[in-house]
Amino acid sequence: MRKKVLGLVLTIVMLISLVGCSSNKDVSTSGGDATKDTPAATEAPATDSTTETAPPATTDKTFKVGISMPTKSLERWNRDGSYLQQQFQSLGYEAELTYSDNKSDQQVNDIQNLIADGVNLLVIAAIDGDTLSTVLQDAKAQNIPVISYDRLIMNTDAISYYVSFDNYTVGKLQGQYIVDTLDLDNAGDKTFNLEVTAGDPADNNATYFYNGAMDVLKPYIDKGTLKVPSGQTKFEEVATAAWDTATALDRMQNILASYYADGTQLDVALCSNDSTALGVTQAIESDYAGSNTPIITGQDGDVANLKNLLDGKQSMTVYKAVANEAVVTVALAQEILAGNKPDASLTDKFDCAATYDTESYDNGTGKIPSYLLVPDVVTKDNYKEKLVDTGYYKLGDDGYLVAAQ
Ligand code: BGC
Repeated sequence: MRKKVLGLVLTIVMLISLVGCSSNKDVSTSGGDATKDTPAATEAPATDSTTETAPPATTDKTFKVGISMPTKSLERWNRDGSYLQQQFQSLGYEAELTYSDNKSDQQVNDIQNLIADGVNLLVIAAIDGDTLSTVLQDAKAQNIPVISYDRLIMNTDAISYYVSFDNYTVGKLQGQYIVDTLDLDNAGDKTFNLEVTAGDPADNNATYFYNGAMDVLKPYIDKGTLKVPSGQTKFEEVATAAWDTATALDRMQNILASYYADGTQLDVALCSNDSTALGVTQAIESDYAGSNTPIITGQDGDVANLKNLLDGKQSMTVYKAVANEAVVTVALAQEILAGNKPDASLTDKFDCAATYDTESYDNGTGKIPSYLLVPDVVTKDNYKEKLVDTGYYKLGDDGYLVAAQ
């Protein structure tokens, strides 16, 4: 029976993930049975109360899932929210989606309201990973499982699982891109100037990205091959509150005015993500005296940054297929709601690579079992293959990329 339920899960995921992970061989071969069992949109999912995997009290009730996203103002969360909502709804779940305008108090209220609305499970991408302990105590008291989505929620034992990308690897890919592009291993006496822009200190991911990149770059800084004219390399010095584009722009303008106005060449701007890269690129366009085009890194594949990539203004972005992050999250939610205890075997259900990691993410109350997807480098040379052929983006009439959904 368990197999049958899994078949159902997989088939649904296969149906809904027109963009994103495709299902594996086992799934296609079990397609007949599973399709038969696929609930219509109006039916409650997994309502077979005769099975040992059946969720409690669902025969006359549809599961309701609460999705709490940080803000619409940072592009990716619009995609995350809509993929999650669509995928849950395709399964017949009710899915209430909130955005909290990057205000942590508002997110606490939004989560309180979701709990009051009777959600059976919460999927939360935290604005500030440290501010949700109290509201999540309420969730725990009402047996509402919580999936910490993309960003780890800290200091609460109310979290059941964490779903994200391998955040440290995101940073490593940025650092390695810089090493390879500048050919730092064969630089000899040549030196290059670097400035660093990192993410929001309230976001647990930000230090992972920063550490991943700096662990790759530090040996070259120590050797003197990479120099940092501003002297700002510590996370606290280079962080960007709320990942805000204007804040990153201001800081880079100050750096350019203070350390580069005399014509000093900036070779590379390490930026942890696309919203900060956008500000840094604007600062360089408006205030940089040099004639070279610095290497600029990013992360996410925001539309404005992909335009800059095609225009040669941004060098790379680390792309994270959030459609797949949603697919993994939805399958995980289904398993949890079915009363199962998902483990490494969940990763067998998808073609997209995801590892089950019980060691890397400790939220202060213990290690949180994590499903980590694999990030990928996108450049002007491979964007067609990575983004267009995969169906994540399409080329608009103006020759630039637009999100496919
Ligand atoms: C996400 C990044 C994103 C950043 C700002 C991080 O938690 O992992 O993909 O760029 O938040 O939205």
